[in-house]
Amino acid sequence: MSNSKLVLVTGGAGYIGSHTVISLVNAGYKPVILDNYSNSDPQVIAGIQDILQQPVTHYQGDCRDWDLVNSIFSKHEFEGVIHFAASKAVGESVEQPLAYYGNNLDSLMMLLKAMNQFNVPKLVFSSSCTVYGQPDQLPVTENTDRKPAASPYGNTKKICEDIIIDVVKSNTGLKAVALRYFNPIGAHPSAKIGELPLGTPSNLIPFVTQTAAGIRKVLTVFGDDYNTPDGTCIRDYIHVMDLSDAHVRSLSYLDEQQANSYYDFFNLGTGKGTSVMEVIKTFEEVAGVSLNYQVGPRRSGDIEQIFASVDKAKEVLHWETTKTMEQALGDTWKWQQIISKTS
Ligand code: NAD
Ligand code: UD1
Repeated sequence: MSNSKLVLVTGGAGYIGSHTVISLVNAGYKPVILDNYSNSDPQVIAGIQDILQQPVTHYQGDCRDWDLVNSIFSKHEFEGVIHFAASKAVGESVEQPLAYYGNNLDSLMMLLKAMNQFNVPKLVFSSSCTVYGQPDQLPVTENTDRKPAASPYGNTKKICEDIIIDVVKSNTGLKAVALRYFNPIGAHPSAKIGELPLGTPSNLIPFVTQTAAGIRKVLTVFGDDYNTPDGTCIRDYIHVMDLSDAHVRSLSYLDEQQANSYYDFFNLGTGKGTSVMEVIKTFEEVAGVSLNYQVGPRRSGDIEQIFASVDKAKEVLHWETTKTMEQALGDTWKWQQIISKTS
């Protein structure tokens, strides 16, 4: 088995990928980024290199471009692939389902083909808690059934998990984990990289920080009549650096598996649910600002509450979060202030 420490990071210029590149280098890996910058800025590479104080190998291109993928695998002897590259906007996926199925499924299949051809054994795949829909019981364990997907985006994550399972069953030497992220937030503490949403953000935290920075006039809380203690929706928000570390840990976890082919999947969250109002209050305390918000109607398609059981990740993966909501919101706020100044 290859033990090159070289890892292909698809989507490595994106939000979670860029932070994971930092964690990989800090753990002694040599990441190689492949990104088409369809949802990221090439300047992110400069931010990564600035944090690391060393160059990082990076290719601009599409995971679906076989000639490019083939040439990258020919050039580098990878021991694994961390596959972040995907289209991820839920609403857009409803409007453009074929673009979403095309990108998310074809990218994965192209990589699996290359991994098979070049005997690259390990795959870490970005899945999502969206595969659970609105679960019947909380917290959500990995034994919780997946529900029919509420959007084409969600369906791509389910189908990708199933494709990986089928390839593992074919016993051709693939060892894979699917990581079901809950709600990633935060930024690198240096504030040199962070989330860069294009246009008006649909996610809560970038909307909060952009409102505080004066870019948006008012934050709308989507409903306060849910069956939760303060009436607002509950999610499990996880610091992106904790999430990044789980990818590094997943690579060594796969090394520990003796089987020729192997599949496992984990929830990645904090295990704690936080309401929209709690997020707002914590942000106001951390940032020392008063946020302009109003309560509006529910957002269609929103689920009332979801948070992870993280027991399996703790017991099997030996990973757990170390950062607090305060740290995550503080790091995001620091990052927002930097990008507000430069844009
Ligand atoms: P992101 O959009 O910031 O990063 C994805 C990166 O992949 C971008 O830099 C984009 O340019 C690139 N990319 C997309 N298609 C590509 C292709 N065909 N070839 C090469 N590069 C391509 O997203 P993110 O938030 O970092 O998410 C990373 C992964 O995690 C995605 O698979 C996403 O679906 C999944 N995920 C994200 C969240 C979240 O809230 N951010 C939650 C659950 C799962
Ligand atoms: C959304 C996606 C999910 C994806 C996740 C991370 C949907 C239905 N789900 O989840 O598939 O994995 O993002 O990218 O789009 N909120 C407000 N005001 C706002 C924005 C959000 O009140 O301006 C509330 C929402 O109602 C929700 C919470 O904040 O209760 C979190 O929202 P968001 O950040 O969009 O994440 P999810 O809805 O959990």
